[in-house]
Amino acid sequence: MTQIAVTLNSRPNTPPPDETLRFGTVFTDHMFMMEYDDGRGWHDPRIVPYQNFSLDPATCVLHYAQAVFDGLKAFRGADGVIRLFRPSAHAARLNRSCAGLCIPELDPALVQESLRALIEIDQRWVPSKPGTALYVRPTVIATETFLGVHPSSSYLYYVILSPVGAYYAEGMNPVKILAMDNHVRAVPGGIGAIKAAANYAASLHGAEEAARAGFTQVLWLDGVQHRYLDEVGTMNIMLRIGDEVITPPLNGAILAGVTRDSVLTLLKSWGIKVAERPVAIDEVLAAASRGALTEMWGTGTAAVISPVGELGYRDARVTINGGRIGELTQRLYDAIVGIQYGTAPDPFGWTTPLTQRVPMPA
Ligand code: COI
Repeated sequence: MTQIAVTLNSRPNTPPPDETLRFGTVFTDHMFMMEYDDGRGWHDPRIVPYQNFSLDPATCVLHYAQAVFDGLKAFRGADGVIRLFRPSAHAARLNRSCAGLCIPELDPALVQESLRALIEIDQRWVPSKPGTALYVRPTVIATETFLGVHPSSSYLYYVILSPVGAYYAEGMNPVKILAMDNHVRAVPGGIGAIKAAANYAASLHGAEEAARAGFTQVLWLDGVQHRYLDEVGTMNIMLRIGDEVITPPLNGAILAGVTRDSVLTLLKSWGIKVAERPVAIDEVLAAASRGALTEMWGTGTAAVISPVGELGYRDARVTINGGRIGELTQRLYDAIVGIQYGTAPDPFGWTTPLTQRVPMPA
């Protein structure tokens, strides 16, 4: 059986008080690392004190962005149990991201066990205040030293942990999003459907422009016609028009969000009509002007369920549900959070208690 070697941090830090937590600013005492080399495969899985890397300035990830990551959360329930939310779905998505950037696949059982074993060691860092969680960031970077453009022959897989509060400064209060047709995040056939670090770099310019116009995030439109809703970059988007919930389909440019999938599963189980179909910005504005656009929200691991209170597009400004959290948005938030913190039953088997070890291959 693959063994994970452990070197404990001899100078552990004190976790900050839960009420001071923001998103992704504080890191725990340990990290997981494992290398890949052509001809040898993935090797030396280990947990070590949180530390800096030393990289040659010519390391290819620094030049050509052959890097992918994923993000999931562990929650400390009111019963004291720490639960990971859908770790197998995240491990599977990490491997899809690797495949998309020619990175050799990881053993999904080893990925899951790397997350579990690391969180177990740093479990005192899992916050308990409602709305907080331990954010888990598995990452793979290309480490070969070269300046030609081709897939690297060596990689580093590592996992870091960060106790977090709400992703947006607004918390659970509605955010403002701006649909832009002068910037593009991704196109079908590109890498928009995977968690490639480069997708986030591609989003920065538009995000800055949106922030200058007073918006929290960009609502990306499709990269070909600049007409159909894609996603928000940090979350998938859903709208309620009449009695139906509509979300853009997984068209090859949109990330297959794990929270997106969880929400669609919940909605269907509640008997609510759901359509995964292309939705044009004109259709959204028309629905808003006849009063049929009653709710809009984003879904994501970091963002959870994030209500949208205002939508901008060119000169149009639409206030949704009077800028307040919608009834279905709140119901979804409560349902997801209830499962995550163990205060509601988990009918879909989405949570894994930390105590459940993952059987690993030889
Ligand atoms: C997540 O929700 O985990 C994300 O990856 C979004 C973001 C913070 C980049």
